[in-house]
Amino acid sequence: MQPRLMALEEGKDLAPTVRTYQHRALPLRVLQFFLVFLVLGLGVSVCSMYMIRFFKIPNAAPVVQPTIVPSCFVELDSIQSWIRPPSNLLHIMNDTELFWRASFVPQIKSYPFNRVPKIAFMFLTKGPLPMAPLWERFFKGQEGRYSIYVHAMPSYDANYPPSSVFYRRQIPSQVTEWGRMTMCDAERRLLANALLDISNEWFILLSEACIPLRNFSIVYSYISRSKHSFMGSFDEHGPYGRGRYNEKMAPLVNLTNWRKGPQWFEVNRALAVKIVADVTYYPKFKDFCRPACYVDEHYFQTMLSIETPHLIANRSLTYVDWSRGGAHPATFGKVDIKEEFFKKIFDSKICLYNNQPSSLCYLFARKFAPSALEPLLQLSSEVLGF
Ligand SMILES: *[C@@H]1O[C@H](CO)[C@@H](O)[C@H](O)[C@H]1NC(C)=O
Ligand SMILES: *[C@@H]1O[C@H](CO)[C@@H](O)[C@H](O)[C@H]1NC(C)=O
Ligand SMILES: *[C@@H]1O[C@H](CO)[C@@H](O)[C@H](O)[C@H]1NC(C)=O
Ligand SMILES: *[C@@H]1O[C@H](CO)[C@@H](O)[C@H](O)[C@H]1NC(C)=O
Repeated sequence: MQPRLMALEEGKDLAPTVRTYQHRALPLRVLQFFLVFLVLGLGVSVCSMYMIRFFKIPNAAPVVQPTIVPSCFVELDSIQSWIRPPSNLLHIMNDTELFWRASFVPQIKSYPFNRVPKIAFMFLTKGPLPMAPLWERFFKGQEGRYSIYVHAMPSYDANYPPSSVFYRRQIPSQVTEWGRMTMCDAERRLLANALLDISNEWFILLSEACIPLRNFSIVYSYISRSKHSFMGSFDEHGPYGRGRYNEKMAPLVNLTNWRKGPQWFEVNRALAVKIVADVTYYPKFKDFCRPACYVDEHYFQTMLSIETPHLIANRSLTYVDWSRGGAHPATFGKVDIKEEFFKKIFDSKICLYNNQPSSLCYLFARKFAPSALEPLLQLSSEVLGF
């Protein structure tokens, strides 16, 4: 598992920049907001007092009140303030506060408004998104059916133009090390931020090396009609599976409960809340699954297969090629991108979809090098359908 260790070192280099991102510029904005508020409020009350005295309005209160009430008070009274997604993703909540807020669940199941359920695409990246132009094409014309969240290293300054789907979609982030709990922390942070938008119903974790294999309509209908969430999860014997289990996790997690699976998942809203709200499994995995136990391959996979086995499909939607051997999967570059390459992926497997055999098993694929972008853009409309 050498590549993981290398990446881990890269993570460490960035340590001094921890948590500077969140606090930048925000207190100033809050201060400005309150100042404007104060001046407005004072102005309105002085003005109305003057008017009451001058015109000797007998029953002043009902007449004056509507002009005094500032617009944000009106919003608090309306359902809109509860269903509108946050306008700015850069909040100042820490993880404890964020996870608590994100774990709110309505107890009445039918929504008192027309809710179009959205898919949250959550990009866990180091920095840039080399496949952004392909994703832009994928999302084109689908506004209102998706939202995007990006967790990059805190030191990375994203610079997308306002016309981009990635513009201002960065969430407050922290340094993340591959194979360690900080990786699961980042995944939970992405889920929690996405949960703040009540219209997000499905949550997909992706990396900068992922691409979509199908167009948005197919992805949306496949995910929205599935009875299961796509968390890859299996019981693997041998050193890289059961070999990573630590007996100190029993009886919460026994050896037969131990699962492994790819990091890249899709979960529905109920499972996303479960993951964000977990305080039971988290400390066990934090203490007893450390390299060479790579916690992002075991924590959610094991927890969900104990808690809600009937809700997960036990397979991932993201294709990856381990056939070249070695400790890490194949990375595809310019020379790999041909029509036959995708035919091979599409024909590679039969899986279960809603308990029926299906040949449509993968909606995404990894890992793609930046050099793959140009040929991908050339054949995407013909081969990938967008
Ligand atoms: C977040 O802030 C609260 C209140 O100050 C504190 O109790 C909590 O420990 C903080 N959490 C983190 C992860 O820093
Ligand atoms: C693990 O084993 C113990 C003892 O047999 C049992 O009480 C416990 O429920 C098991 N845990 C799980 C998650 O099945
Ligand atoms: C996934 O695996 C669990 C056992 O871990 C099983 O109970 C469940 O039925 C499986 N899900 C599907 C859709 O087959
Ligand atoms: C998506 O792809 C399918 C099959 O390739 C095609 O029938 C459909 O028209 C495409 N939808 C859009 C919106 O491009």
